Amino acid sequence: MSQNRVEQNPDLNNPDALRAAVAERYAEAVINVNDAAATTQQSCCSVSKLAGYDDAQLDGVPEQAVTSSFGCGNPVAFAGIEPGQTVLDLGSGAGIDLFLAAKAVGPTGRVIGVDMTDEMIARARANIAASGAKNIEVRKGVIEKLPVENGSVDWVISNCVINLSPEKPRVFSEIARVLAPGGQISISDIVVDELPEWAMRSFDLYCACLAGAISERDYLAGLEAAGLEAKVTDRLVYDAPQLAALVQEELGGAEALEKMLADAGVSLTQAAASIQGRVWSARFVGSK
Ligand SMILES: C[S@@+](CC[C@H](N)C(=O)[O-])C[C@H]1O[C@@H](n2cnc3c(N)ncnc32)[C@H](O)[C@@H]1O
Repeated sequence: MSQNRVEQNPDLNNPDALRAAVAERYAEAVINVNDAAATTQQSCCSVSKLAGYDDAQLDGVPEQAVTSSFGCGNPVAFAGIEPGQTVLDLGSGAGIDLFLAAKAVGPTGRVIGVDMTDEMIARARANIAASGAKNIEVRKGVIEKLPVENGSVDWVISNCVINLSPEKPRVFSEIARVLAPGGQISISDIVVDELPEWAMRSFDLYCACLAGAISERDYLAGLEAAGLEAKVTDRLVYDAPQLAALVQEELGGAEALEKMLADAGVSLTQAAASIQGRVWSARFVGSK
């Protein structure tokens, strides 16, 4: 783990620096999943276990993809993805949803993942190679400038990623650009209802999918401004113990946040209680 997170925190207003720092954290996180010393699951993942994938859905998905999952929902479940379709997963990580989408589209369909973190891409590609799947590929890139052709996909899915983007309007426009006419979205993501200032300033909480999250209303407005009609179909509101666990376990440690809270004389439990009910995982479904 990084030694001096407080000093290393990036400028939260510099998109490139923020993306680079987020990539560094997720690189660490996916490596730590394999580390024998890492005894807990990480980041959004801790909380996302609640949203859960059931055993039947995970049948045939490489175990490494499951144990390296960092999502906050299950955007493929009941989405209505059909055989032969093309699915694009934004921020595909180690690939859990790529495999679920590949099952849905079958051998005549195609699944493309995009991620910016080399270590995540390597993990996903290793999982794909081990599975023998021929209809999944992973491309390196940022979701603000997708390496995908105009109008070329039937579905855009994403799981706990867009909250991490410092430039969400660009992401929403890119989704609209790559979708074919009538193309559909199924996105699971964290949303918030006015987090306090201390939380919004924390890079640890940014990486834990909290400080960069926007409200459900702003999310829907952003999608709509890009030409996408969407609604929220599911919500999972996190309680204080779940939020405390998230902060304690996120990405293997949150030294800067812990120091900030200690300086303010606030415990993690108190901090989590203060944002209880204001953070949830939402599923956005809609079409172009
Ligand atoms: C919380 S993890 C979720 C991974 C995966 N969707 C899952 O459910 O396991 C966030 C992922 O998004 C990627 N990511 C974050 N911001 C990104 C961006 N701006 N462009 C591309 N990938 C990004 C990270 O590298 C990481 O793999």
